[in-house]
Amino acid sequence: MEIDLSPEAPGGTVTAFAVADPVDAQPDLDPRLAHLAESGELRGTSGATSVLHLDDGGHLVAAGAGRGDELDADSIRDAAAAVARLRLGPTLAWRLDESLPVDLAEQARAVVDGVVLGGYDQGKWKTGKPAAKQVERLLLLNGTDQARELAQRAERVAQWANRARDLSNRPPNDLTPERLGERAEELAAGFDTLTAEVSDLDQIRALGMGSFAGVAQGSHNPARLIVLRYDPPDAKGDLVLGLVGKAVTFDTGGISLKPGLYMEDMKGDMSGGAAVIEGIGAIADLGLPLRVLGVVGATENAIGGGAFRPGDILTASNGKTIEITNTDAEGRLVLADVLWYAREQGATHLVDFATLTGAMERALGDLYAGVFGNDEGWRDQVVAAGEASGDHAWPMPIHRRFRRYHDSKFADLKNSSIRAQAIPAYAASFLQEFVGEGPWAHCDIAGPAFLRWSREDYLTQIGGTGYGVRLIAELASRLTP
Ligand code: BES
Ligand code: MN
Ligand code: ZN
Repeated sequence: MEIDLSPEAPGGTVTAFAVADPVDAQPDLDPRLAHLAESGELRGTSGATSVLHLDDGGHLVAAGAGRGDELDADSIRDAAAAVARLRLGPTLAWRLDESLPVDLAEQARAVVDGVVLGGYDQGKWKTGKPAAKQVERLLLLNGTDQARELAQRAERVAQWANRARDLSNRPPNDLTPERLGERAEELAAGFDTLTAEVSDLDQIRALGMGSFAGVAQGSHNPARLIVLRYDPPDAKGDLVLGLVGKAVTFDTGGISLKPGLYMEDMKGDMSGGAAVIEGIGAIADLGLPLRVLGVVGATENAIGGGAFRPGDILTASNGKTIEITNTDAEGRLVLADVLWYAREQGATHLVDFATLTGAMERALGDLYAGVFGNDEGWRDQVVAAGEASGDHAWPMPIHRRFRRYHDSKFADLKNSSIRAQAIPAYAASFLQEFVGEGPWAHCDIAGPAFLRWSREDYLTQIGGTGYGVRLIAELASRLTP
């Protein structure tokens, strides 16, 4: 999508702007809409659109942003998405509004998110259906150079988020660990600054990753360890951002089998890995001057004669032994080895992304990731980057007392507790055993990464949301002032 500033909307195109409730409080309402306002037909309800057909063949759209007293960047995203979904034409002129409580550059960025993420079409496997028409050109009316620049960056990032959604939505018979590895290699081939290294199960075993390998052993689709290294020539400082992702391409639960209802959603259990891979794509595309190491553990959690069992004891690459008490708590087993690997490979600051616990979704719904960590400052930087980017994130605690939930009588650790207490938090506490020295944050994205039901905001589509890509791009940008 091309983005420019423009003093006015060209004839015949779509002009749109946000209106908030109550609409009669709106200053400088376009006079062409006055009669709609008077008749009560103009609605500021979030996602509502009032469309006026213009004589020149164009359209004027007032897009509902919800209540004016709670208007924020998300309100603008919702309004812009509603306009994009009208699919009225390839050029959209959006009038930024100084009277709104969101600054112009932030408005521009939110409009882009709404248009690009809101325009996404999940129905890519339907036959005989043409691809949904997207906005190809966005003109910012009332914009500044800063607004245009932020919007252009946001556009690139949002396209990477949509690529992560494509990965999450791809069916698990297509998106195997091997194919995810191929995607990483394809990505790296597009940038001089990026290299990919993909290892198979024998190599994973040779690296001592007995925990990851235990999960992988039951699947006919062989596992992959995917490593991406972003090394720009102008990298500043000694910081190496380590991005770690859980990519379980399908989670049956293993022998601790999941219930059947909605099990198809477990194709989205690779969304953390998708966010890391496409997030690094965004960083490389923006050319950010910092070093990044991406490590993704890709495997199926399958059921079968070769599968690992409850009672098995696995040895992770840092030497710790893990008693398996539930094969469905597999994400932490994969992450244990890939987190340790990322640290060993020189990551100074770690962040992992994982659809780790159903209980995280129960706690924070489909909107927020829960963010845990061993360093409050780093955890809060991750949360702040998420909040600024539209990927909502909320800080969560780890306490040493949580260790009793994963203390094992037989081994150093067990992978789950039968007590239904603090499930996301003790999962984080388990991970902490494998992060080595230095700051680490863990984003449990089970809620926002993959939607079972429409969120009824700018993310109307079910399935993958690309959660994490915007957070990663924002975090990396903030680390390189
Ligand atoms: N992939 C699931 C978590 C999940 C559930 C993500 C629903 C998104 C939606 C994970 O591997 C899992 O099964 N976790 C268990 C942990 C438990 C056995 C301690 C869970 O949440 O029930
Ligand atoms: Mn599981
Ligand atoms: Zn899982």
